Amino acid sequence: MKGLIAAGGKGTRLRPITTTQNKHEIPLANKSMIELAVDKLVSAGITDIVISINEGDTHFPTILGDGVDKGAKLTYVEQKGGALGVAHVLKNARPYLEGDDILFYLGDNIILGDVKEFVNTFYKQQLNCLLALSQVKDPQRFGVPIIEDGRIVKVLEKPENPPSPFAVAGIYLYDQNIFDVVDTLETSARGEYEISDAHTSLIDQGLKVGYAEITGWWKDTGKPGDLLEGNGLLLSQLKSQVDGVVDDSVGMQGIVVIEEGAKITGRSFIRGPVIIGKNTVITDAYIGPYSSIGSHCFIQDVEIEHSLIMNNVTIEVQSRIVDAILGHGVTIKSKEETFPKGHQLVVGDNSYIEL
Ligand code: G1P
Repeated sequence: MKGLIAAGGKGTRLRPITTTQNKHEIPLANKSMIELAVDKLVSAGITDIVISINEGDTHFPTILGDGVDKGAKLTYVEQKGGALGVAHVLKNARPYLEGDDILFYLGDNIILGDVKEFVNTFYKQQLNCLLALSQVKDPQRFGVPIIEDGRIVKVLEKPENPPSPFAVAGIYLYDQNIFDVVDTLETSARGEYEISDAHTSLIDQGLKVGYAEITGWWKDTGKPGDLLEGNGLLLSQLKSQVDGVVDDSVGMQGIVVIEEGAKITGRSFIRGPVIIGKNTVITDAYIGPYSSIGSHCFIQDVEIEHSLIMNNVTIEVQSRIVDAILGHGVTIKSKEETFPKGHQLVVGDNSYIEL
């Protein structure tokens, strides 16, 4: 079985974080989502992996390279014609996947459990397609199956009145039949080749479409709040490890990972689950549960909780920062004691701030 990971798209709902970086580069617990996706497939024994990237994207292949250090063989395929939907990713990657079974993984999906069980079910039940389902509160945001007598009879894309409480997660297993089906699809009202239409076509042709329920945690990280939730969950799965320097004066509690070259000094207190990235310096600060701090940051005086802080961030302010997502290179400082008083902000398009 080969892997196909979708790692293109514009990530508009995650702006401004995605204005300067691909959504799949966003780090959760200091690991990019694309890296998490590759690791997930490799741990299921799928090492030959095609990564679908945006047209003209030369930066992305530099992040993971050829995958050798992960025990994988990565091939990058540009999505010609633009981001035309999930089924279009398959259509476009077909020449690279001819003759194999496929595990197709949407790179913005985060799942805590293993995907190996889906591979086993796919073969054991001799399916043409296996869909991973997850029970959610808002199925109208997803592909939703109609299930009758324990069988999926149709899949609707983002239905206003969902016929079941399940979302079809972005983890799909197929044999070669899927390629003939995606070739016959027409674009939907939102101008995309819908993967749900492809699934309905497989069923209409009498092919075996089975499903398995994801019982653990799964999330499609489409919105900023999802990133914080995903970050928190991945942090809670880490094992404590201190490779950096922690002064005796510093307090630590819970799961704490301090990466190489990081330095925690002064009256700082770190309450996990927390990860502090390479070469970051933290002085007289409180870093609270469910926070990830990237590499090369400088953090002083502040209290931070339940936040995702990327690389090269400077924070020197006597304040409390919660539920925050700060992109690479952000600076937050105390205002100088000059007039006029007030918050001095230089903020890019589509930013979101609560003061
Ligand atoms: C896509 C699929 C949808 C699926 C979801 C899972 O939605 O179209 O069927 O449930 O991924 O993440 P989109 O991310 O395009 O909104």
